[in-house]
Amino acid sequence: MSTVLARAQLRQRADYTYKFNSKTGRHGWLRLTPAYSVKIVEELIVDHDQDKRVFDPFCGTGTTALSAAYHGHECVTTDINPFLLWFALAKTGQYSPQQIVATREACASVLDFVRRQSIKPVPAPPIHNIERWWNARSLDFLRLLRAAIVEVTQDDSIERRLLLVAFCRSLIGLSNADFNHQSMSFKDNGQLDIGLDIDLTSVFNQDVRFVLQGASENPTGVARVILGDSRNPSEVVEGPFDLVVTSPPYANRMSYIRELRPYMYWLGFLSNGRDAGELDWAAIGGTWGIATSRLVDWSRKEQHFESDRLTHVLDKIAHADNKSGVVLANYVAKYFDDMWAHFQGLVPVLASGAEVHYIVGNSTFYGTVVPTEILYAEMFEALGFTGIECRAIRKRNSKKELVEYDVVARWG
Ligand SMILES: C[S@@+](CC[C@H](N)C(=O)[O-])C[C@H]1O[C@@H](n2cnc3c(N)ncnc32)[C@H](O)[C@@H]1O
Repeated sequence: MSTVLARAQLRQRADYTYKFNSKTGRHGWLRLTPAYSVKIVEELIVDHDQDKRVFDPFCGTGTTALSAAYHGHECVTTDINPFLLWFALAKTGQYSPQQIVATREACASVLDFVRRQSIKPVPAPPIHNIERWWNARSLDFLRLLRAAIVEVTQDDSIERRLLLVAFCRSLIGLSNADFNHQSMSFKDNGQLDIGLDIDLTSVFNQDVRFVLQGASENPTGVARVILGDSRNPSEVVEGPFDLVVTSPPYANRMSYIRELRPYMYWLGFLSNGRDAGELDWAAIGGTWGIATSRLVDWSRKEQHFESDRLTHVLDKIAHADNKSGVVLANYVAKYFDDMWAHFQGLVPVLASGAEVHYIVGNSTFYGTVVPTEILYAEMFEALGFTGIECRAIRKRNSKKELVEYDVVARWG
């Protein structure tokens, strides 16, 4: 057994008493972050003094940045997806009482335009099969609402930013999408009746109220949100950091772009399926559209992470009794090549004694478990980290082998 494995401990965590989230609505601005990860991040941040500089190389919806800022830390976070950065910036921003009032007033003017229908609606976004997402009434409403927000507010203003966050909530609230599963699915077609008999303007009004309630509770710390590729953090961020708390992509073929499509199209971050595929290919663990076809001819760089365990896993997946075995083995290999580049790139921005926490789940392909947590631990060990532990946090779903871990290590 390797020393890493010998040290890997499985620690079941006790129930959390989670009070923080009830103080602010900001964590719930979009329905994208599962509550458990907020709890875990919160617990990890609370444990550290305020003078610790925090880094999250995989920002997503900004959970770490927001928690760190609320606890008075300086936090820097990066992501490759510009929509998520826009959203994290909105979430972690400071808002004055005057800005909150101005946004409330802007909302009233927006709804006035919508009620009187005195504005030209924006075109429907080019989302494939858009009629699966919204019924005609909700779609018309969203098109008018989007146009009115632009009409009433100035480019790059706080009012526009906060109203667009509320717009994101409304567009999902009125949609047929179901985010209760691990990845997005559609409810029964019957659910497309949503919004047929309700006052749609009151839906938006409530969402604005929810967003403004969260926005009025300002964090004391500062969050910096930066567009960048975590395979080379030192290109965009300046260390040293004392604490890394992050949830990287999992090697489970979940596509963030697929999940985020409706927001990204409505807000203009995407305008066609090709760009969506390109962004997914640029992301670690991306697997959607063009990303999958590129994996067919993809091969590992000469200098990759050497691990007998990984070689064995890749071999089993490639030889599974399934025609997609080879491409999925490539998918897993690329995921670990990218994460290896990330961990190598991380070291130069860490302070001596820095503590890192990677919240990540394992996955399975054709019955073969990909032990992501152990492979991370092996990579940390190869780079010279110490105190490496894989702490089990929770089972992910009914499949008993799928578990979420906090992979912990110390630098120097
Ligand atoms: C599991 S999510 C992060 C979830 C996050 N903790 C939250 O609060 O939502 C992983 C994130 O990694 C980002 N990502 C993927 N590849 C990346 C890369 N090469 N550089 C930076 N970010 C990347 C994705 O866009 C996604 O937002």
